[in-house]
Amino acid sequence: MERRPEPELMLDPEQARAYAEADFAEPHEHFVDLFAERFPDMAGGAVLDLGCGPGDVSLRLAARYPACVVHGIDGAQAMLAAGAAWCRAHPAGSRVQLRMGRLPDAQAPGAPYETIVSNSLLHHLHDPRVLWDVILRDGAPGARVFVMDLCRPESAQRVSELVARHAATAPEVLRRDFENSLYAAFTPGEVRAQLGDAGLEAFQVEQVSDRHLVAWGRL
Ligand SMILES: C[S@@+](CC[C@H](N)C(=O)[O-])C[C@H]1O[C@@H](n2cnc3c(N)ncnc32)[C@H](O)[C@@H]1O
Repeated sequence: MERRPEPELMLDPEQARAYAEADFAEPHEHFVDLFAERFPDMAGGAVLDLGCGPGDVSLRLAARYPACVVHGIDGAQAMLAAGAAWCRAHPAGSRVQLRMGRLPDAQAPGAPYETIVSNSLLHHLHDPRVLWDVILRDGAPGARVFVMDLCRPESAQRVSELVARHAATAPEVLRRDFENSLYAAFTPGEVRAQLGDAGLEAFQVEQVSDRHLVAWGRL
């Protein structure tokens, strides 16, 4: 099935509100667990979270690693606004800074980073090279890199099945977003090709659920 890109930034306030209010506890805790399994040496330091949205993954990482600070970057003010409130209320929130910036132009405040993560940004990018170039630019030598994203199903019928399984009771705007995102996502083979083009062929790509893949390695 052909890729069908979606808009990069999540600028619509209704879309941002629905996303921020959705319960992503299961996939986002899974993100942190998978990261921890792959990088058992992780202790602290500054982490860069690319396309952080409202910062749920940033906060979960900060909570898991009390010696780390997390810098999130996102180009959508509506998504960051929800995150600012969460950070004020969260016990680990004082170690999370979310800032506005569109990639690739946005500059991360603490580069070079020893850890760079990203969840569900890749499928939004019209040119996926943006993600890998920013990682290469802002990562320190040997940096841990962990990217999780949706993978594009093989057929429209499979898209419908996944939307029914994971978003049946979600608000309409969220269901539509999830469907659009599945069409916009890359296959594991496409991500491997992107990594090869970026000189990151040593990274591993694994499908880790019925809808998610991870790409990870060290710079
Ligand atoms: C599906 S959300 C994921 C948010 C967050 N990582 C999470 O897991 O909840 C994708 C985010 O990427 C942001 N985004 C997309 N393209 C971007 C770009 N070029 N620069 C910065 N942020 C971008 C969108 O605004 C949106 O907030």
